[in-house]
Amino acid sequence: MKIAVLYGGTSGEREVSLSTGKGIIEALQNNGHEVFGIDFSPEKLIDIIKLNVDLVFIGLHGKFGEDGKIQGLLDMLEIPYVGSGVLASALAMDKTKAKQIFGSNGIKIAKSKSYPATDGIATIAESVRKHFTPPFVVKPNQEGSTLGLTIVKEDRQLEEALKLAVESDSTILIEEYIKGREMTVPVIGRQGEEQALPIIEIIPKNEYYDFDSKYKPGGSEHIVPAQIDLDLTNRMKEEAVRAHQQLGCEVYSRVDFIVDEDGEPVILEVNTLPGMTPTSLFPDSAMEIGWSYDELIQKFVEISVSEKTKTV
Ligand SMILES: Nc1ncnc2c1ncn2[C@@H]1O[C@H](COP(=O)(O)OP(=O)(O)O)[C@@H](O)[C@H]1O
Ligand SMILES: [Mg+2]
Repeated sequence: MKIAVLYGGTSGEREVSLSTGKGIIEALQNNGHEVFGIDFSPEKLIDIIKLNVDLVFIGLHGKFGEDGKIQGLLDMLEIPYVGSGVLASALAMDKTKAKQIFGSNGIKIAKSKSYPATDGIATIAESVRKHFTPPFVVKPNQEGSTLGLTIVKEDRQLEEALKLAVESDSTILIEEYIKGREMTVPVIGRQGEEQALPIIEIIPKNEYYDFDSKYKPGGSEHIVPAQIDLDLTNRMKEEAVRAHQQLGCEVYSRVDFIVDEDGEPVILEVNTLPGMTPTSLFPDSAMEIGWSYDELIQKFVEISVSEKTKTV
């Protein structure tokens, strides 16, 4: 197949996407495809049209890549792509909206409140102090890679945390702090036939799963499969598939949880374009059931093609 890989982009996660793109390009070439790598910006759209590819593989993360915008452009051009469509991408990117959907469908969520940045730091701070006591988490509603996120442990950190969060988004999400073990569940498959791959427990070297823990070599330890009992394993896998389906995700996603001190999984978010470097979490989990990185990327391609050609 003739496949364009979009990587790089302009979001805060550009650097991560450069590695993701490189990995995907190599894997597709190893699988015998004709591959065109495109460091994406909107004016590159014309190049994609001219290339007349069979499929676009989106290796972008964060704003304009993961949020449904590029998916909308490709839909209008009738160019098939790998992964979730406009609505699911946008919903997953909007943590507040996604949590409302999970919560009303019986998946446990952290207590939270969101505020438009236009309310101003002072007003938001006053309301936060009424509703939350430290520790709690301040995060931009739509970001990734833990950018702009602060775990507020002492009251005096609040204003700084809010200032940082408004730098990356116009909506601020405050969440109660969930103490527990961090787990993530890869989901893959045709719509309605998705399966969860082995659960990964993440043990960050820093206090929580921040940018450095995510991307520095040795920044965190991945335990695959997570050492948890079968009941919890099955429950989290079932909830991950359900979360993926509730948002209407397609082909693949990765669902983040914290298992709290009572052993209850609390969902944090669904990532529709999770990190996909050869050492990322998703490929690590696939490896556990014997799928090499190249095979995993090929599965994404095959599922996408079979979805797009599915007769209803
Ligand atoms: N409510 C919370 N309680 C405890 N830790 C949290 C909470 N929310 C986020 N974190 C920590 O911050 C990291 C990033 O948060 P997440 O909501 O997944 O945003 P991102 O899109 O940046 O990955 C998590 O992996 C976790 O380590
Ligand atoms: Mg996350």
